[in-house]
Amino acid sequence: MNHKITTPLTFKSGHQSKNRFALAPLTNHQCEDDGTVTDAEVIFLQMRAEGGFGLVMTCAAQIEPSGRGQGFPGQLGVHRDEMLPGMTRIAEALKNTFSVVQIHHAGIRSPKEVIGQQPVGPSDHEETGSRAMTLDEVKQVIQDYIAAALRSEKAGFEGVSPAFIKYLSAWDRFVKDQHLTARLKQYDDTKTLTLSIHHSRWLDHTVWISSARSELGD
Ligand SMILES: Cc1cc2nc3c(=O)[nH]c(=O)nc-3n(C[C@H](O)[C@H](O)[C@H](O)COP(=O)(O)O)c2cc1C
Repeated sequence: MNHKITTPLTFKSGHQSKNRFALAPLTNHQCEDDGTVTDAEVIFLQMRAEGGFGLVMTCAAQIEPSGRGQGFPGQLGVHRDEMLPGMTRIAEALKNTFSVVQIHHAGIRSPKEVIGQQPVGPSDHEETGSRAMTLDEVKQVIQDYIAAALRSEKAGFEGVSPAFIKYLSAWDRFVKDQHLTARLKQYDDTKTLTLSIHHSRWLDHTVWISSARSELGD
């Protein structure tokens, strides 16, 4: 019997996963402090690929070169070129599956004690001690996402997935979601951006996706 879930899936890019089983991104806190890949992380993902998943996604990998977007201790990083050798090891270990990096910026949820600097987000936020991003910082983080996607491709991965869409209404762990969360954004704050700029530059996730596509293709 030919169950659909066991049949291949072809993506718009032409890449194919051999079945419809996909490993959800799972953060294991087992990379080095600076985001460098460890043997434990490579083996964890390799075992899932060998187990037969048609698509294996890494855990959320931080993207801002300074480390400001790190969300958890021991989080994987694709934020700097020094991460390439480790990321290449993971991509090679995932050769028999469709390999995807989840790219991530934790915004106000970056713990100060982990990142060693003030976290940033859509507006000043007392609870976390984070501050509003400037428009230039927003534009830079968009570029950081794109650079992380290109770095992932260079390492040998076949796809990237920005960590935000599934949390639009439910969670605010990721910086793009935070800009979409009414209780966190106070656009009349003079330190932050105007509503229209937020909408045109940040909130509309198609901007992110089309920016990335113009660099990466489908
Ligand atoms: C230990 C653990 C780590 C997780 N890490 C991530 C992550 O890095 N990125 C992400 O988007 N979701 C993460 N999740 C959420 C899972 O990918 C998944 O969405 C969630 O467990 C719900 O899936 P389920 O309905 O199949 O249980 C994590 C979940 C767990 C339990």
